[in-house]
Amino acid sequence: MKVLAADGISPKGIELLQKEFEVVVKDKLPAEELLEIIPQFDAIMVRSASKVTKEVIDRATNLKIIGRAGVGVDNIDIPAATARGIIVINSPGGNTIAATEHTMAMMLAMSRNIPIANETMQKGEWNRKKYVGVELRGKTLGVIGMGRIGSGVAKRALAFEMNVLAYDPYINEERAQALGVKVATFDEVIENADFITVHMPLTPDTKGMIGMEQMKKMKKGVRLVNCARGGIIVEEDLAEAVKQGIVAGAAIDVYTKEPVTKDHPLVGVPGIVLTPHLGASTVEAQIGVSVDVAKGILAALHGEPVATA
Ligand code: MLT
Repeated sequence: MKVLAADGISPKGIELLQKEFEVVVKDKLPAEELLEIIPQFDAIMVRSASKVTKEVIDRATNLKIIGRAGVGVDNIDIPAATARGIIVINSPGGNTIAATEHTMAMMLAMSRNIPIANETMQKGEWNRKKYVGVELRGKTLGVIGMGRIGSGVAKRALAFEMNVLAYDPYINEERAQALGVKVATFDEVIENADFITVHMPLTPDTKGMIGMEQMKKMKKGVRLVNCARGGIIVEEDLAEAVKQGIVAGAAIDVYTKEPVTKDHPLVGVPGIVLTPHLGASTVEAQIGVSVDVAKGILAALHGEPVATA
């Protein structure tokens, strides 16, 4: 059996697979090359860069399993894979802490102007008055999506003495009470929160769920965070809302189209902090997701049951 490891998968999982199978590692894999080589492989491991489209799946005559080293499977055409009997697995737990901590880091960096203060100080400037920030304590954080990462963010926000308003169609009162958060409707969250962070997958329901219409309903001085998926917040609207002062600031890690180039609407807008999809980029998380997915691939290629994405 032959496994393709694309997108810079951590070596830990690759070593596990190499004990039994031939593994070809392609950290940077152009779409045309993926199309060309995919017929050779029984399994493929990807992060988010490689797009496992219907076209790829149609050419993957030997493929039995697609392993996503991470949570989001929006780069994989699951219906096309399912139609061909190809299993799709992900690793929902491995990078939870990394994404949770990155969200907190982004919230703090944005509220205390750390990126711009660093950038200007590196140029020899000393701007104490210009970069007065805001505190988290006593503020209301709206968490949209209370899965593993959203709940982790809520827990940490409570430690910062924030109040947490949580919107999630699946959360019940008992769980909310156990977490110490207040359940709210989507409108209640957007109208009452000082900070709003989204933690939902990108689906037809969540795509564009926060656009100019919603931003205009938010509190003056609201700050937004998206470390989930690009497209949940409408990028052009966010850029405009920050420029017009409708939204005080934003911290964004994920984009509709990645990688982002200089002409992206969010690039160069004062008050917006950007990172290049670093949510899951910790040493620990990359080992975790790589090992989880490798174990899933081993099990599937041995004909054992695996949990599908
Ligand atoms: C995920 O979906 O797991 C994260 O966004 C990280 C990644 O894309 O690798």
